[in-house]
Amino acid sequence: MTYFDHNATTPLDERVLAAMLPFLTTFYGNPSSLYRHGRLARTAIDTAREQLAALIDAPATQIIFTSGGTEANNLALASLPPHGTLAISAIEHASITEPAHRLQELGTPLDILPVDSKGCINTQNLPKHAPDLVSVMIANNETGAIQDLAPLVAKLTGFGTVIHTDAVQALGKIPLSFRQLGVQLMSLSSHKIYGPKGCGALVYDKDTAITPLLLGGGQEQAQRAGTENVAAIVGFGKAAELAKAEMAARSLHTRQLRDMLEAGLAECPGAIIFAQDAQRLPNTVQFGLPDTDGEMLLMKLDKKAIAISSGSACASGGSLPSPVLLAMGVAADVAKSAIRVSFGAHNTPDQVYDFIKQLQALVYQA
Ligand SMILES: Cc1ncc(COP(=O)(O)O)c(C=O)c1O
Repeated sequence: MTYFDHNATTPLDERVLAAMLPFLTTFYGNPSSLYRHGRLARTAIDTAREQLAALIDAPATQIIFTSGGTEANNLALASLPPHGTLAISAIEHASITEPAHRLQELGTPLDILPVDSKGCINTQNLPKHAPDLVSVMIANNETGAIQDLAPLVAKLTGFGTVIHTDAVQALGKIPLSFRQLGVQLMSLSSHKIYGPKGCGALVYDKDTAITPLLLGGGQEQAQRAGTENVAAIVGFGKAAELAKAEMAARSLHTRQLRDMLEAGLAECPGAIIFAQDAQRLPNTVQFGLPDTDGEMLLMKLDKKAIAISSGSACASGGSLPSPVLLAMGVAADVAKSAIRVSFGAHNTPDQVYDFIKQLQALVYQA
């Protein structure tokens, strides 16, 4: 199979699996237990926290491990103070938009910040009034467009706004520094960086109050109760360590594949690359082809053993055009033709050549 959907998830790195296995078998102690077996698990979690902290340039003590990016995003929004105001960008992941709309239904004023045709908030679209919490992602999961948060941070710093960023897609693909970004909250996920699924983190500024979603045994500095998923956390830490060591090589490799694909698309009449002029993740290309239904094309490519994603979100049995592309001003019929390719460490130039050939056969010679 040719797997071109690394923004959806990545395969578990064998080195990560090797690091995890002892914590599923031999070292099964509860990290809260005081005897040696428990302390071993606690130490392994602390090491993972340090490994993740090193990747994102954050204090390890300000990392809360969660069950994934979705929980981290929900936890960030749950920290909005009662009667507070909320702003999110128009291109956020469902794990931000859904809790934001829930809060809105419960009476929270919600401001949706528009994006330009590159999928970025430009300086004219910054919030007019400082909200209590604002959430803007660093890199978009569909287009790969990278948002420069500096103008937003500059405008809102000093007004008491808590700035949250969903850095799930940026993690391991571009350098990230929590300290330099100037945000107060940042969400991360393990399975986008060759770590296990069901593990993520919320990074927080020590002066920012978190409202826990899960109450109980006081784990994770009393911010997220529940016996820790030790093996998954160890895996996330190992994946972070590898991402830090290999980011430059991975980025170069996927950028070369992306450039090859984009050169191939330039030969496909009518092909449009979304957010082409934006700064983008090195591994991501989202594009549309004329008179094509993205979901249909995805199915046809699946029959050829090529796994890619469409830009559409399924709803009530039908497929809707991607809200991200619609927010960028892309026409609905063009947005429905979108497919997304997201490369990873194991993809090869031959796979890209074959993919372009298959596309041409399916779209232009059908
Ligand atoms: C931008 C973004 N945020 C959040 C998530 C959710 O992360 P998880 O799958 O770990 O819950 C994803 C996953 O697709 C994502 O792409």
